[in-house]
Amino acid sequence: MRKTLIAGNWKMNKTPSEAKELINALLPLVKDSSNDIIVAPNFVSLPIVASLTQDSNIKVAAQNMADIEAGAVTGETSVLMLKDIGVSAVILGHSERRQIFQETNKLINKKISLALQHDLLAIYCVGETLEERESGKFLSIIEAQIKEGLDSISADALKNVVIAYEPVWAIGTGKVATGEQAEEVHAYIRGVLGSMYSPAIAEKVIIQYGGSVNPENVKELMGKPNIDGALVGGASLKPDSFAALVNYN
Ligand code: G3P
Repeated sequence: MRKTLIAGNWKMNKTPSEAKELINALLPLVKDSSNDIIVAPNFVSLPIVASLTQDSNIKVAAQNMADIEAGAVTGETSVLMLKDIGVSAVILGHSERRQIFQETNKLINKKISLALQHDLLAIYCVGETLEERESGKFLSIIEAQIKEGLDSISADALKNVVIAYEPVWAIGTGKVATGEQAEEVHAYIRGVLGSMYSPAIAEKVIIQYGGSVNPENVKELMGKPNIDGALVGGASLKPDSFAALVNYN
C-alpha cells in the first residue's frame, strides 16, 4: 500500500517571520495525521522551518537546488547546504522553473541524480500546458519528461523519487483537473515507470497530483487508484486550509 503524501509548495510567498507563524500554527493542527506531510518554503525560510519541525511529523523540502555540489555559481543553493540545515526533500522540475528559467529535462535529470546521491527525496514535477493538452499529444510529452528526467536513475534510487503530475493549465487557475483526467495521466505515468523498471517497482512509486487542489476537491482526487497525494500551492499558505487537506481522510 502506498502512503498518501500531502505537500505544500509555498513558492515565493511568506517572509521568514511569516513562515515561522505559519508553521507554528500548522504543527498542532496536523500532528495526528496518518498521511505523510511536507512543506516547501523559500530558501531563506528553510532554516527556521527546518528547525521548528525537527521533532515533528512534518518534513521540509526545498523548491529547487543547483545541479552541482559547490562552486562559482552566484545566486544558487547546493544540495550540501540543504542537507546541512536538515532539509530532507527537494521539488525539482516544477513547471515554473521549466517556463521561467528554461529548465530542461536534461538539467532536471542532473539535479535529480545529485539529490538522490545525497539521500534527499526528489519530488519530480511533470505536466503539460493547455496547448499541449489540446494538441492531443500530452501523454507523449509527459512520457518524455518521465523518461528523460529519470534517465540513469536506478530502481534502488527510485525509492526516493516521488512524481508530481501538475497540469500547467490547472496551476493557480482554480481550474482543477477532474478526477478522471488526473487518473488517466497518473495511470499512464505508472505504466511508463513499469516499462522502464518493472510493474512491481512502478506500483510502489508515489504519484501526487498538483493544480488547484483545495479542501473541497481533495477527496475526489485522492479517491482515485493511482493518485497518492497532492502537491499544493495556494491552499497551503493558510494553516486551516492546508490542515484540512492533510486531514482530509
Ligand atoms: O506545486 C504546487 C502548484 O504548482 C499548484 O499550485 O496554487 O494551483 O495549488 P496551486
